[in-house]
Amino acid sequence: MAKSKTVFFCQNCGASSSKWIGNCPSCKQWNTYVEEVVEKSTVQHVPAWVDTGNNKPQKADPKPISSLNSGPEQRIKTTDEELNRVLGGGIVLGSLVLIGGEPGIGKSTLMLQTALKTKYKVLYVSGEESENQLKMRADRIGIDNDECFILSATEIQEIFKQVKKVKPHLLVVDSVQTLFSKSIESTPGSISQIRECTGQLLRYAKESNTPVMLIGHITKDGQIAGPKVLEHMVDTVLQFEGDRHHVYRILRAVKNRFGSASEMGIYEMAGQGLREVSNPSEVLISNREQLLSGISITAAIEGVRPLMIETQALVSTAVYGTPQRNSNGYDLRRLNMLLAVLEKRCGFKLGAQDVFVNIAGGLKLDDPGTDLGIAAAILSSYENIPLPSFTAFVGEIGLSGEVRASRRMDQRIAEAEKLGFEEILVHAGSVKNLRPDSIKLVGVRNIMEVAEYLFG
Ligand code: TYD
Ligand code: MG
Repeated sequence: MAKSKTVFFCQNCGASSSKWIGNCPSCKQWNTYVEEVVEKSTVQHVPAWVDTGNNKPQKADPKPISSLNSGPEQRIKTTDEELNRVLGGGIVLGSLVLIGGEPGIGKSTLMLQTALKTKYKVLYVSGEESENQLKMRADRIGIDNDECFILSATEIQEIFKQVKKVKPHLLVVDSVQTLFSKSIESTPGSISQIRECTGQLLRYAKESNTPVMLIGHITKDGQIAGPKVLEHMVDTVLQFEGDRHHVYRILRAVKNRFGSASEMGIYEMAGQGLREVSNPSEVLISNREQLLSGISITAAIEGVRPLMIETQALVSTAVYGTPQRNSNGYDLRRLNMLLAVLEKRCGFKLGAQDVFVNIAGGLKLDDPGTDLGIAAAILSSYENIPLPSFTAFVGEIGLSGEVRASRRMDQRIAEAEKLGFEEILVHAGSVKNLRPDSIKLVGVRNIMEVAEYLFG
């Protein structure tokens, strides 16, 4: 009889241990270890490298790389341009794509509408909703498609039986946490079930060359529930994020074996499903007629696209002893660094001020070229002087207050011009290499020059 052995797994990071631990040594989370049964095989294997005299050629023998043909990957193009771009140009055949996001953010809606709109045959397997609920959702999206098959199931072998009948071009599974395999004893959603079922889906995808889109819920602190292990297994990880109370949703590539991992797509949740936002700059900049202090516009690069983004700052005298610093969408440590630079190099007394920073539309910026925009918004709020409404800011700020060059300036400038901006503050050294059509370039060497230019 197979010896059964139990192992404790951390639900947060997937680390394992032979005994229960209260505080995970790997991810430092408390009370995340759960016990799971692992079947141990008793079959004794002869090590494969021992020469047994059987050297017949096999299919999986190594080949010289020069003898292989590459050719571009074959992809399924969906009708959703944002999704195609985030995936690097469509869904690669035979790939396993994981879409993570908080409950209620719109993962099922996104996948179902993709399934409904495409001309390929899709099997949408849901373990979360009944067929009736899915139909209601499809009605809400308002599209009918005879090539979109719905299955409400959770057992993996059951799903594969149906897959064999339907032979879809694309398989969607909603969600990995509801799947279970009878060969494993633990409950659905446990690490070993998730790992086993994903492993089977991966094998199916590779062997049948059918792409699989797998939905996964994430926990409050942003991890794909349970396992980091999942991220290693799949080809692509997309994160669907945004505030449930805001209309905008952002689809971001976190890992992509077939494209850039810095790509993102923006959607708007409407009454009839998710609508692609193809001109994000226009929606991310609010009404510019009314001049308010603490608002600046920066041209960021997100993935391959330039984006004009509104950044807002509020600087006010701290009531309590320790001033508060808070940031939505911009790295808090970077904000603290900017404040220290503004205080030390420009003499702005921000040490006793509360500072709040917010990026419009719930976006998260990680392009250092947006530093100058944030700094301008902070200075504007501190001085209580509105910035000129058709001025944009691009540049990274260094520790001595110097403005540094940013990459892909041509694209940023072209985007600013498209939206009717009149001037843009940039790194002084870049000015001679840039040929703008209509916008005025203002070269600045450091943050002091920016303050001087704006407030005289
Ligand atoms: P859902 O797609 O079920 O999210 P998830 O699968 O990530 O848990 O949830 C979508 C939310 O969006 C839900 O609260 C209802 C809302 N919604 C709309 O506003 N418009 C629509 O057309 C649809 C289908 C859903
Ligand atoms: Mg769902």
